[in-house]
Formats: sequence, C-alpha cells, structure tokens
Amino acid sequence: MNITVIGTGYVGLVTGTCFAQMGNSVTCIDINQKKIDNLKKGILPIYEPGLDSMVVNLFKDGFLKFSTSLPDAMKKSEIYFIAVGTPPGEDGSADLQYVLSVAEEIGTNLDKYSIIVNKSTVPVGTADKVKKAVQEKLEKRNLDIDFDVVSNPEFLKEGEAVNDFMKPDRIIIGTDSKKALKIMEKLYSPFSRSKDKIIEMGLRDAELTKYTANSMLATKISFINEIANLCEILGADVENVRKGIGSDQRIGNHFIYPGCGYGGSCFPKDVKALIKMAKINGVRPLLLEAVEERNSIQKHILAKKIFKTFGENLNDLKIGIWGLSFKPGTDDMREASSVVLINELISKGAKIHAYDPVAMDEAKNIFSKKLFDEGKIILASHQYEVCEQADALVLVTEWKPFRQPDFHALKKMMKKPVIFDGRNLYDPYELKELEFDYQGIGR
Ligand SMILES: NC(=O)c1ccc[n+]([C@@H]2O[C@H](COP(=O)([O-])OP(=O)(O)OC[C@H]3O[C@@H](n4cnc5c(N)ncnc54)[C@H](O)[C@@H]3O)[C@@H](O)[C@H]2O)c1
Repeated sequence: MNITVIGTGYVGLVTGTCFAQMGNSVTCIDINQKKIDNLKKGILPIYEPGLDSMVVNLFKDGFLKFSTSLPDAMKKSEIYFIAVGTPPGEDGSADLQYVLSVAEEIGTNLDKYSIIVNKSTVPVGTADKVKKAVQEKLEKRNLDIDFDVVSNPEFLKEGEAVNDFMKPDRIIIGTDSKKALKIMEKLYSPFSRSKDKIIEMGLRDAELTKYTANSMLATKISFINEIANLCEILGADVENVRKGIGSDQRIGNHFIYPGCGYGGSCFPKDVKALIKMAKINGVRPLLLEAVEERNSIQKHILAKKIFKTFGENLNDLKIGIWGLSFKPGTDDMREASSVVLINELISKGAKIHAYDPVAMDEAKNIFSKKLFDEGKIILASHQYEVCEQADALVLVTEWKPFRQPDFHALKKMMKKPVIFDGRNLYDPYELKELEFDYQGIGR
C-alpha cells in the first residue's frame, strides 16, 4: 500500500518505518526541514533502539521516503496517518492545532478516496473535527470526494517502540466505515499474524481507550507512590509491600514501582487532557485529579530529602545526577523528574554534575545555555565522573549501567558517601554496611 505518515517524531517515524518494513511504500512528512534533511542522511531525530539501521536500509531500498511536501506525497497515497504532537494547552486540554492544520492540508489536496487515520492521541470527538476540516476544504473546491476518518491510537513505549509496534498487545481500530475497516485490517495483518490482535470499535471508543489506558497506568504509579510515602512514616519498606501485592494476579507486578514521579510526553499530558475532557462535560474527575496532584508532589520528593540532609542552602555543594531522560531507553526529557529536581537544586545554590547514556544532547535543549555557561550544570563524559568529590549522588533514571555500580570505588571518589535513590535500585542493607547514607523512596 502507499502510505503517508505526517509528523516524523517518536510515533510517526516508528509507524512509517514499521509499515515500510512490511513492504509498503511509505513517505514520512515533517514540517521541520532539518529533520527531513538529516533523515535522508541517516541521522535520526530521536534515540530509539534498533530504529536507525531499519530507517537507513529502508530508505536505501526505496521503501521509505522523507519529504516536507504533503501535496507531493498525496499524489500516490491512499492512507494518511496523522502523527503530529498534541501538547497540552494552557488549560490542560490537548492542543489540536497541528492535527487540524494537517486535516486542512489534506482537504486542500485530496483527489481520490482516502483514509485519514488519527494516530496522535486526541480527545473524544476529534475524528468529527478532522472530518469537518477536510469536508470544508473539499466544499470550497466544489469537490465531492469520499473519504473516511479512522481512530487508531498508538500504544508504543519509547525505548521499546519498534518491538511494541511490530508485536503489539492490541491494535485498536475505531471507525464507522466497513470499507475503511477492511483496508485497515489488511494493512495491519502482518502485525497480527499469530493471533487476531485487532479490536474494532467506534471512533469515540477508540479515542477514549487511549486516554483511559495512560490514565490507568499513571494511577498505578501515583497509587504506589502514595503508599511509599506512607511506608516512610509508618516504618515499612515499600519494596516488600510492592512484592506482597504484586504477587496477587488481580493486581500484578507491572507499573507499581515507586519512584520520583512519572514524566514523558504522554502520561502527564494525557491525564491532564482527560481531566479537562471530564470537566468540560460537567464531571469532576476526583481520582484523576488526585493522580495528577500526587505526581506533581512526587517530583519534588528527592529535593525534599536532599534539603532534609543538607539544609536549604546548597551553596558550594556538588550534586551528581545519574539519569536525565524521563525513563531508560529514550533521550526524551519532556516532563522528566530530573528537570524539576535540577532546577530546584540549582535555585538553592547547588552545582549539578550530570550524566545520562543518551539524553545529554537533549539536556542542552531543555536547560538554558546560561546554566551551562555559568557552570551550574556540567555534563560529564562518564557516569563516575559526576561522583568525583560529590557531596551526594542522586539516581533519577534507572538506566542499566547504573544498576550495579562499584560502590567501593564510589565511596573513595565521593566527598561524602550519600546516595539518594529515586528508583529504589539499590539494596539499603548493602549500602548501610558500606557506610553510605542511603535514602530511597518509601523505605
Ligand atoms: N511519544 C510516545 O511515546 C507516544 C506514544 C503513543 C502516542 N503518542 C502520541 O502521538 C502523537 C505524537 O507524539 P510524538 O511523541 O511522536 O511527537 P513528536 O513531537 O516527537 O513528533 C511530532 C512531529 O510532528 C511534526 N509536525 C508538527 N506539525 C506538523 C505538520 N503540520 N506537518 C508535518 N509535521 C508536523 C513535528 O515537527 C514533529 O517532528 C502525540 O499525540 C502523542 O501523544 C506518543
């Protein structure tokens, strides 16, 4: 099939590449000229394990093309995937300006039956808005061309995106058109070979499914974080409580790891958007509001522990940070806990020495140049470099290279043997024996 994917970020690039891998002819469109130029040279805008070699090979073999011109791509295409960003607006609702501008551009250039697929995470009712935007443009051109809008939310996880797309748990297809459903089923059949993973539903059901899934996962995290905070007060170890409840199959072990808050481009924005959707419709989403508030507080928990240990004046303290991305396996720092922590520590006078296996280039985009120029943030070339003469080490992202550090070496190189473990990676008893001041979450 001839497919156009509009928006070449985490979702669009993975979607386009995986469809191309199945033998489809895919054009990935982005408005960012530099992104497109770089992709043609084999330079990817994102870090995603396994993706770069696929992109390079599929581009070389002609299955994958990159362009900034949607009208050019439309000459040959019959399916359009909209995979542009839907960031939170000022009131928390999803900002649909990018989605709708793509819909208008499609309507301006549509010349045959096509399927327009919303891959972006969009509020309930967006498919109707997309339909209307396309229809209005067609009417302006005095054309009566048949088209269908489908909601096909994406569930990939950054860091495991290729595998998730290739072997999805489920493929949600929301549509009111039998014709579109048949084409979508055919397109997705290579990803659904071992068992039928396609779940067909209405457009609104599909749109809400995505928000519900992310909000449920965020709820699990905020729940265990709340229990972790209680554990600290009650003298219990949340890691034991976690294992104790996770072994109950009705609860399960996934997404009940306590920590310093969830981040990324999806959970925070999707919980906010669902809250907004409920409020617009006259419902107060009590649970979701609590999930969001717990997470906002949780992002400050490491700073709070640091202040308790060192006081609120951190002048002349060197704090080492391990991990900047919002989770391991990605360079994405959107809404990352590290950003909240680093800004808070700097505001109290600390000097930050940070290391992340892949997100350090992204850190230069996130923090102001002034902070680097003034030496308030120094990015290290090795994880142990941040520990040299450090007053404390803070583990923020549980990347694999941080999982079994040489604590003897760490103790020798640090000024003070103090570790704040934002992901409960380390054994408190082992560190106590080594005479570290160890502070985890909820233990
Ligand atoms: N990142 C994830 O893990 C993930 C997972 C599932 C769903 N989603 C959803 O998918 C959507 C995209 O997320 P993302 O993380 O890939 O975003 P992203 O910011 O990485 O990529 C979006 C891309 O769209 C491009 N763009 C914007 N307007 C455009 C236009 N008019 N024409 C062409 N390109 C345009 C931008 O330049 C950017 O490259 C969001 O709605 C998000 O919520 C994201």
